[in-house]
Amino acid sequence: MYRPWEGDVMRVAALCGSLREGSYNQALLDTVIDRAGAHGPEIVQVPIRDFTLFSQDLEADPPAEVTAAKELIQSADCLLLVTPEYNFGVPGVLKNAIDWLSRPFGDPTLRGRGMALMGASTGYMGTVRAQLAWRQLWHFFRSPVFTDVEVLMTSARDKVRGGQVVDPATLEVLDRYLEALHTWLGRIS
Ligand SMILES: Cc1cc2nc3c(=O)[nH]c(=O)nc-3n(C[C@H](O)[C@H](O)[C@H](O)COP(=O)(O)O)c2cc1C
Repeated sequence: MYRPWEGDVMRVAALCGSLREGSYNQALLDTVIDRAGAHGPEIVQVPIRDFTLFSQDLEADPPAEVTAAKELIQSADCLLLVTPEYNFGVPGVLKNAIDWLSRPFGDPTLRGRGMALMGASTGYMGTVRAQLAWRQLWHFFRSPVFTDVEVLMTSARDKVRGGQVVDPATLEVLDRYLEALHTWLGRIS
């Protein structure tokens, strides 16, 4: 859900890597946005649904939705990737968005900006392989990566109802994650 920043708080710009209706990762992000007010930073979702496929031919004059996303992220203290795992790796939708946001070479949107991760899968590994892959490629941006608490939502079918996470143990982890993220943002900013 897109909404502007409210007040003088730590700001997190979040990207969801699934466009699926009924997505568990979108439910995870919606739940985190709702709980963030009480437990830490302000979180705003950055829309990437309308990003076209990246081509370097287009990077000098990017589409308006890419420019808008860059502005929102540049006003944030940190980027949050809410990632599915596809074929033991990162999902193309989110990789495409990151490729747009990283260009042209030297663009300040991602470089040095803090990055945090979470993810949901229907399997029993909870996106751990995708999250490790994101951490690996994030070295390129010379950015600090939040790892104090990890959110790996396994068996997501059993933990989401009506577009919200309802599993008590996951909700407890989410609150710990938000509090630790808030503390970490205070340290790095
Ligand atoms: C192309 C594709 C590849 C997938 N690969 C994995 C995988 O490697 N590991 C995993 O745990 N789940 C995998 N899944 C299952 C996803 O965890 C599941 O579809 C999940 O619901 C995707 O997130 P979403 O609900 O936010 O769309 C895959 C699903 C698709 C469509």
